[in-house]
Amino acid sequence: MNKPHGGLLINSVDTTYKVNMKNETVHLDPIALSDLELLAIGAYSPLTGFMGKADYQSVVNNITLKNGLPWSIPITLPIDNKKANFIDIGDTINLVQDHTVYGVMTVHEMYTPDKNEEAKQVYQTTDPNHPGVKKLLERPNIYLGGPITLVHYPQKLSFQKYNLKPAETRNMFRQLGWETIVGFQTRNPVHRAHEYIQKAALETVDGLLLHPLVGETKDGDIPSERRMECYQVLLENYYPKQRVCLSVFPAAMRYAGPREAIFHALVRKNYGCTHFIVGRDHAGVGDYYGTYDAQKIFRQFSEEEIGIKIFCFENSFYCKKCEAMATAKTCPHPKEDHVSLSGTKVRAMLREGKMPPKEFSRPEVASKLIEGMSKTGMEVKQ
Ligand code: ADX
Repeated sequence: MNKPHGGLLINSVDTTYKVNMKNETVHLDPIALSDLELLAIGAYSPLTGFMGKADYQSVVNNITLKNGLPWSIPITLPIDNKKANFIDIGDTINLVQDHTVYGVMTVHEMYTPDKNEEAKQVYQTTDPNHPGVKKLLERPNIYLGGPITLVHYPQKLSFQKYNLKPAETRNMFRQLGWETIVGFQTRNPVHRAHEYIQKAALETVDGLLLHPLVGETKDGDIPSERRMECYQVLLENYYPKQRVCLSVFPAAMRYAGPREAIFHALVRKNYGCTHFIVGRDHAGVGDYYGTYDAQKIFRQFSEEEIGIKIFCFENSFYCKKCEAMATAKTCPHPKEDHVSLSGTKVRAMLREGKMPPKEFSRPEVASKLIEGMSKTGMEVKQ
C-alpha cells in the first residue's frame, strides 16, 4: 500500500487530554473544525497543526511546504484583531465551537496574511463571488500557526459508521488484501458519468474508495445526508460489495479547481489510496477554471513527488448510438446523440418531482433525491 505523504501517518488525537478551562479560547468556524479533525487523524499528514508563515507562504507561492513537499491548499486558523490582543506566542489555547472544546493548540506563530495574494494564487481569482474567495475574505484577518491536539471528535451522527480515519481505511484495505486502491472525491449526487469513471478505474486496480466530501459546501450543493443515501442505494444495486468501500471525507469544499485536485489526491494518499480520479472540472465552480486544468496542474510535479497515480478522465456521457457511456475518446457520434444535462437543469427537474433520464441518473438515485427534496421543501437553494 502507499506510504502517507511525507512518510508518517500523523495521529494527534487524545480524548483523555485534561483541558485547562482557563486557557484563552478561539472559536472554530466549520472549515477550521473540519481542518482540526483532519489534521489530528492524519488525513493532512505530514501537517501536525495549522500552518505557520513559512509553510503558508510556500504553499501559496510554490504549491509546496517549506521543505519542498507538494501541498496546495493553505490550512489556516484565522482570528480577529480583538482576539489577537489576548493571545501570546507560546500560549496553549482551547479551540471551541458551541461551548465544546474540540482541541487545543500551542501558538507558535501569529501573522497577517496577504489574502489578495492567497486568492490570486490558490483560486486564480480575487472575485468575491467565487465561493472559496468569498469564504477566504469573510474569515478573520490574522492567522495562528502551531501544533494541535484533538480532544473531542465532532459528531457526524447520520453517517458515523461511514466515518473511517486514514488508519482505519488502511487497515481495511490490508484486511481485504487490496494492494492498489483508487480514490474518488465527490461533492455532487452520484450520476452515471461518475459511475462510469469509477468502474473504468476499478477495472485496473484491486479496490475503489468512494470518498464523498461531507464538510461545508456552498449554497446550491445537495446536502451530504442526501448524497450518502444516493450512494447507499447505488451500492446495493449496482456495485460489487467486495471491491468497494464507502467512507466520508469530512473536509470543507474550497472550489479551488486545480489546486484542490492536488490537495484531494494527497489526502487520499494518506487514506491509503494508490490511485486517484480526476475527471472534468474537478472541484471547479462557474467558469473560473478550464475543463481539464485540474489534470494539467499535476504536470508541474513528478509522479514520485505526488506519490499517488492520477487517473485522468475526459467528459463522460451516455451516447444513444453507442448505447453506452463514453467519452470523445471512445465515441464517434455527434453531440446530438449524447445525453448531457447541466447540474442546474437536473436540480430544476428534481424540484418539480421529474425523473431525469435514466441514462443520466439511475432511477433509484433520482427517487432518493426527489424524496429528499419533498421531505425538506426547498432544501437546495439556487
Ligand atoms: S467535485 O467538485 O467533487 O469535483 P463532482 O462530485 O461532480 O465534483 O465530481 C467528482 C469527480 O468526478 C471529479 O473528479 C470530476 O472531475 C469527475 N466528473 C464529474 N462529472 C464528470 C463527467 N461528466 N465526466 C467526467 N468526469 C466527471
